[in-house]
Amino acid sequence: MSMQELKGKVAVITGAGSGLGRELAKLCAAEQMKLVLADVDVNGLEETLALVSEAEAITRRCDVSKRSELDALASAAYEAFGQANLLFNNAGVAASGPVWSSTPEEWEWVMGVNLMGVVHGIQAFVPRMLKQGEAAHIVNTGSLAGLTSVPGSGVYCVSKHGVVTLSECLHHDLQGASADIGVSVLCPAFFATGIGESERNRPAELSASNPDGEAYAEFVRAAIAAGRLSAADIARITIESVKANRFYILPHKGARVSVESRMRDILEDKLPTNPVA
Ligand SMILES: NC(=O)c1ccc[n+]([C@@H]2O[C@H](COP(=O)([O-])OP(=O)(O)OC[C@H]3O[C@@H](n4cnc5c(N)ncnc54)[C@H](O)[C@@H]3O)[C@@H](O)[C@H]2O)c1
Repeated sequence: MSMQELKGKVAVITGAGSGLGRELAKLCAAEQMKLVLADVDVNGLEETLALVSEAEAITRRCDVSKRSELDALASAAYEAFGQANLLFNNAGVAASGPVWSSTPEEWEWVMGVNLMGVVHGIQAFVPRMLKQGEAAHIVNTGSLAGLTSVPGSGVYCVSKHGVVTLSECLHHDLQGASADIGVSVLCPAFFATGIGESERNRPAELSASNPDGEAYAEFVRAAIAAGRLSAADIARITIESVKANRFYILPHKGARVSVESRMRDILEDKLPTNPVA
């Protein structure tokens, strides 16, 4: 896999209008990549575009929960630049509250963006990448919540566990096809971005929230604000990991302990340890 040199290659970033997606865009621009920036938040996209003015870039409004919009994004990327080498399936949202009072709308919203958004990105881009004759790499933004189980985050954790196993299966399938396409799954702990205000881009028809969610949402917002690494740090570690073709990217070193204790709980037949206690 030859993604050590990114100069001149094409990066596609979903959720590029804020937080991690914006920092990835800035770093890809610094690597002299061409950029395809996508988000539902067109104002956020314009702000990101202004920060990467040195790069050749296009922006597209794209709701990742809709397969047709990812197909349109892939068409726009290939029309503009003829290839896509580094795809960040990064758009994501969070919802909080106990599993028993989570709403059907919350499941549809969070699973639609966080999990189906990644599925749609893979399905829209991989067939084109397989034909393009140039190496490619896909980074799916999972979370430490995809490797552990966090109280008050059932809907989010289910979506992110889905992203982790989807990424592992994608790796196997690409290996089986001898494809020159690498995969990484990014699993950070909390870091400061707009994710605590995910509601800002929530569709009105899916607005019914968990009535018992607020206390958990407050905990999440505090944990995000207290995050030790910045979004820029996470982006830097991610780009380094792509160049080194690392599959699992866990930027927070301390997070490994909670992954290990979950595995121990499973193998030693214990009750699940609370990773945020
Ligand atoms: N911040 C954290 O603590 C943290 C920790 C682990 C994983 N993550 C993951 O990082 C990724 C990036 O989130 P962030 O923390 O930068 O948050 P953010 O809210 O700053 O950025 C997320 C972006 O996704 C966009 N988005 C929302 N719904 C969309 C949709 N349907 N289609 C397209 N774009 C959409 C938003 O408009 C926003 O610009 C997410 O997948 C998130 O789950 C974040």
